[in-house]
This record gives sequence, structure tokens and C-alpha cells, in this order.
Amino acid sequence: MTNPLRSPGDRRLPRVPEPCALVVFGATGDLARKKLIPAVYDLANRGLLPAGFVLLGFARRDWGHGDFEQVARTAAQKGARTEFRESTWQRLSDSIKFLPGSFDDDAAFDTLAATLADLDATHGTMGNAAFYLSIPPAAFPVVLKQMQRTGMADNSECRAWRRVVVEKPFGHDLASSRELNDLVDDVFTAQDVFRIDHYLGKETVQNLMALRFANTLFEPIWNSHHVDSVQITMAEDVGIGTRAAFYEETGAARDVLQNHLLQLLALTAMEEPVGFDAESLRTEKRKVLGALKPPVDLAAHAVRGQYDQGWLAGERVQAYRAEEGVAADSRTETYAAVRLEIETRRWAGVPFYLRTGKRLPRRVTEIAVVFRKAPHLPFAKTDTEELGANQLVVRVQPDEGVTLRFGSKVPGTVMEVRDVAMDFQYGEAFTEASPEAYERLLLDVLLGDASLFPRNEEVEQSWRVIDPIEQFWAEEGEPELYRAGEWGPKGADTMLAREGRCWRRP
Ligand SMILES: NC(=O)c1ccc[n+]([C@@H]2O[C@H](COP(=O)([O-])OP(=O)(O)OC[C@H]3O[C@@H](n4cnc5c(N)ncnc54)[C@H](OP(=O)(O)O)[C@@H]3O)[C@@H](O)[C@H]2O)c1
Repeated sequence: MTNPLRSPGDRRLPRVPEPCALVVFGATGDLARKKLIPAVYDLANRGLLPAGFVLLGFARRDWGHGDFEQVARTAAQKGARTEFRESTWQRLSDSIKFLPGSFDDDAAFDTLAATLADLDATHGTMGNAAFYLSIPPAAFPVVLKQMQRTGMADNSECRAWRRVVVEKPFGHDLASSRELNDLVDDVFTAQDVFRIDHYLGKETVQNLMALRFANTLFEPIWNSHHVDSVQITMAEDVGIGTRAAFYEETGAARDVLQNHLLQLLALTAMEEPVGFDAESLRTEKRKVLGALKPPVDLAAHAVRGQYDQGWLAGERVQAYRAEEGVAADSRTETYAAVRLEIETRRWAGVPFYLRTGKRLPRRVTEIAVVFRKAPHLPFAKTDTEELGANQLVVRVQPDEGVTLRFGSKVPGTVMEVRDVAMDFQYGEAFTEASPEAYERLLLDVLLGDASLFPRNEEVEQSWRVIDPIEQFWAEEGEPELYRAGEWGPKGADTMLAREGRCWRRP
């Protein structure tokens, strides 16, 4: 029956997915405990899971359903965004299953395939299933092949939907990402593949589209005539924690720049999409990434650094090379900054500065659009000494919101102009808290809405930008050291200073 209060196309009322199973490979791992299980709980708590729902964990440990249920409960209590309610958990706990097995164990996958068929009868999942690959990237091929062998991925065989969620990193370079894409596409149809870049699930990132395309104010000035430069920053105060093995192989550029920062750049720079469906959004993002050229002068426009010992929040922290599991002569970068240009009429000549790093003074992600200075100031030079460039800053995290910085007269008898800030804060403007990125994205997977998931062409285009930078760094000497608790290596400041600019201090 149609809802009389809801007009066609009205997406305000909550959408609940069709009955389904969510199979988490690597259900005992860090990501599953910290993010995925809490997100499933939050969805259950908000009434957004279907009646026929099963969470099925798969990992090596010899656990039964009860063991997994206990671990999942603790994970939800610790990590959920919404209040932990016993009644919600009781309903959900009946739907939590676990299957032990190694990825190379054919029998375990045969059991999994049979279990999926049974779940339809026992829990009414209608044969629908989403498979979340929360596993080491090296295990992708074997798990995908097992799914192919057992027919688990084949929609036509089970006459229901089958989807796969792939976690980043999407490969190590262009060649390996192509290999991975080929492998995934061989097993699943393209529309059933969901590549997670959790940044795109953040409310503030989606607000970037609202800001640009729902308002008239910004569009006329969103181009090279008015914009001087764009700075996109993802800074972390933490080090590498227990992920040394992963990080030594990856580094800051592959870990953050290739995916999160280039996706933020694409959303900042793209043209207005014809709609907000997956196809229209991805088409516009792809155009930007296609027009992005790797820096020609890599020595001047790609800077990397590695944190040395230093002080953060009053505590002494050790150098990257002294971290457990890191080689004493490691050349892995923990900081990367690049200057990119987009070769389109809208953006020609506007530098996009991207930077990311660990052990920086604070955790912050933001996009700052810096506007050109007024061509003429009818004031005495001393009146505008404290006037900077106008800036629009989208604060992605924490303290989500938008800041507009502009000059204002200082009260008094003289005409002194100084920068002031006008702030919009999500927490103050809306009473409803934003969903967590994984909560939003998991729901989208179950609903089959791919608009916030990068397509493989985007991933390959991003590697095309990053590969030459990585090759250059591999042939070059050591990364420049920066003291933990400072804003990265001196070279990054020099990169902007050469052009008469400086980094924002967020
Ligand atoms: N952790 C994060 O915050 C984060 C963030 C972004 C992306 N990611 C990505 O998400 C994925 C998972 O990361 P993670 O940190 O959760 O890894 P993790 O803590 O090492 O967990 C790996 C999981 O895979 C299982 N596993 C490994 N080898 C297996 C095998 N041969 N057979 C069966 N199960 C096996 C492990 O099961 P057992 O413990 O039972 O052996 C464990 O459940 C990776 O691709 C990572 O790059 C993680």
C-alpha cells in the first residue's frame, strides 16, 4: 500500500532493507569489533534492519554462535553510537551466527553456502546476502575464489541479490588495483560491488554537496576567477598503534591520499550532477579525477615526511622508527603533501594542496577554499595588516560544521579590519545526532544504494596520480623528519611559501 503522506521520490521516511544476511569475513578482527558490529547494533536500535536479518561471522577461531554473540555484545556496548538497550540486543542476538573456518578450507565454505540456503528457511532472509571482506587484502583472492566456487556470489543461481563490500586499500598501485578489480568483477557483477571509503559516509562530506548545489551563494564564486587555492587536510595526532606491519607496506600517501583525500577533492571540484543517484555522482567525480594530472615537478610538489620523537598533549612520544614492528631504517612516510591541478576551465591554475600525516598536533579533517584577495583595498596598509584571504572551511571532523572567514571592522574610532569567523555547527543547528559513517554505508549496502561508493574507474584514476609520486619517492633518499606534535616537515611549508602561500593552522 502506498503511504498517503509520502509523495513519489520523497526519501525522508526511513528506508528499511529487504530481508538479508550480512556475512562478515574477518568477524573477529579490529574493524569488525570497532566499527561493523557497533554499526549493525545502531541500525537495529534505530529500527532500520529488516525482520528477516542475520549477522553471520566467519573467521578462523574455533567459536560457536554463543562466543561470537558475547564478543559482539561487548563490541556494541563499547562502540555503538546510540544507547545500549537490552531489548534491542535480545532481538538482535537471535540473529547472530558464527562459522569457524580458514579461507583455504573448502569444507568451511561449502558449509557457509549451505548455511546461507538454510537461513532463508529458518530466518526468512529470502536468499539475499551481503559479504563484507573485513580481511587482510592478501586474502581477497582466495575468499573471492571460494565464493565463486561455491556459487555464493551468483545472483542467477540463488535468484536473490548477492553483494560484496571491499575495504580499502584497493590495491597497492595501479597494476595491483586493476588485478583486484578484475578479480572482483569476475565473481560479482559491477553493480553489486561496494568499495568502502568511509569518509564518503560522513554527514559533513555529504553536506558539501548540499552546500554547493542547494544554495545560490557559492556557485558563482566556485571557480578560478575567485578561488586562489584549495587546501584539503586530514591530520591525525595518533601514531601507527599496532598496525606497523600494514603501515610499513602502505605509508601515508597510499593509506589516505589515494582514497580519502582524492575523493574529497573530487566532491569539492566536480560539476553539478544531473541527479544524486550513484551513476550521476560517479560520472562527475570521474571527470574531475580524469582531469587531475600528477605533479610535473615532483621534487617541488610532492613532499613526504616521517615523525621523529617529540611531545604531544604533554606526553613524550617516540619516533616512527622506534615503534614496535617498524624497521630501524624505515623509509615509509607518515606524512604526505602534494600540489595538484585540475585541467578544466573551472579550475585551471588553481592549486589543490592535499596533506595528511600522523603525530600532528591535532586530529582534524577539513576542506578550506581560499579566495583571492580583493584587487584593491581602499584602506591604509596598516588598517588591513590583520586581514587574510576570505576562506570557506568545511570541517569534516571533529567539530563538524562550516566556517566562513572574512574581514570585519574592529570596533573603535579607526578603520582597522581584521579576520573574523562565522560558524555553523552541526551539533548546535540540529538536535538529531549524525549517524556514524559505517552505519550509513552499511545501510546503503543492504539497500543497494551505491551513490557513496567509489567505482573501480575512480580507484584506477586515483592510482594514476599517486603512482608517479610513489615511484619518485622510492628512487629518492629518505623522507624528511618532523618532530611529533608539529605540523609536518619544513619541505611542506616551503612548497607553499614558494608560491606566496602558507598552510592553514586548523
Ligand atoms: N582496522 C581498521 O580500523 C581498518 C580501517 C580501514 C580499513 N581496514 C581494512 O579492513 C580489513 C580488516 O582489517 P582489520 O584491522 O580488522 O584486520 P585484523 O584485525 O587483522 O582482522 C583480520 C580478520 O581476518 C581473519 N582472518 C585472517 N586470515 C584468515 C584466514 N586465513 N582464514 C580465516 N580468517 C582469517 C581474522 O580471523 P582470526 O582472528 O580468527 O584469525 C580476523 O577476523 C583490512 O583490509 C584493512 O586494511 C581496517
